[in-house]
Amino acid sequence: MIENYNLEGVREWYDLSGRNIVITGGAGILGGEMACMLVGCGANVAIMDRDPSLADRFMDRLGCGPGCAIVVFGDVLQREILEQTEAQIRAEFGPVDTLINAAGGNSPRATTGADLSFFDIPPEAVRFVFDLNILGTILPSQIFGRTMARQGQGNILNVSSMNALRPLTRIPAYSAAKAGVSNFTQWLAVHMAQEYSPNIRVNAIAPGFFHTTQNHYLLFDEKTGALTARGKSIIDHTPMKRFGVPQDLLGAVLWLLSPAAEFVSGAVIPIDGAFSAFSGV
Ligand SMILES: NC(=O)c1ccc[n+]([C@@H]2O[C@H](COP(=O)([O-])OP(=O)(O)OC[C@H]3O[C@@H](n4cnc5c(N)ncnc54)[C@H](OP(=O)(O)O)[C@@H]3O)[C@@H](O)[C@H]2O)c1
Repeated sequence: MIENYNLEGVREWYDLSGRNIVITGGAGILGGEMACMLVGCGANVAIMDRDPSLADRFMDRLGCGPGCAIVVFGDVLQREILEQTEAQIRAEFGPVDTLINAAGGNSPRATTGADLSFFDIPPEAVRFVFDLNILGTILPSQIFGRTMARQGQGNILNVSSMNALRPLTRIPAYSAAKAGVSNFTQWLAVHMAQEYSPNIRVNAIAPGFFHTTQNHYLLFDEKTGALTARGKSIIDHTPMKRFGVPQDLLGAVLWLLSPAAEFVSGAVIPIDGAFSAFSGV
């Protein structure tokens, strides 16, 4: 039992007023959902994407406040552009205290199937997936993490995948890349706490199967709209018997970014309807 338990303080944990948050890939399906929630909790949110116009689909919800959102161009694979983006956000909000690395994904060209064996996956396709997920997490962590190191305070949240825990069939590069993201999350958590400040936390979420545009072709038959054999197998192996929806991520994201998780760093939280916990029996 915690003595002098301050219930008022607990209620304030999820008020993110005054926080300056940047989300890479923020105009995507999952990043956009996080942006709406964080603006709703009072944060200033910079939605960074290489195609900022995609954020239009969230604009009506972002405008509701009480926080505010800006949409900025940024490419997580280009350091110079990231530096310009950092300066732009700083001019608008002040220094960033929270980075969400949500840009990432797989490529059909790095996915085995009837037309493509593992042995024939081109190196460029593997490199694309590794760059996007690993380099695309490390570079923004360098640019925005430096500001956090200077301030002695900050929060980095990476987006790994349940693939990192249990590699899935057909997507070797994506599984290995996300394992790299989980590993880097632990490395950076230790590095920031030891070298800069124990008040800089680094965590990750590991979403399971969320039905989005990126994976639609793997889960649903293009012609009939019915579940593919793979889609059906996923549902059969998910104890909660459904795909995730973007809102399923929000509680864990909010918790990890809030003072409620003050002693949590280096954690990778699965959000997968218990898929990764299920042995199949
Ligand atoms: N959906 C799932 O089931 C699932 C499961 C586990 C993990 N995840 C991870 O969750 C994250 C978000 O996924 P999502 O489903 O929301 O995908 P999404 O809708 O494709 O969002 C990703 C966003 O990142 C952008 N992006 C790509 N390359 C970029 C670059 N070089 N610089 C800046 N932005 C870039 C994409 O733009 P373009 O559209 O132009 O490429 C897109 O707007 C990814 O890391 C993904 O691997 C997703």
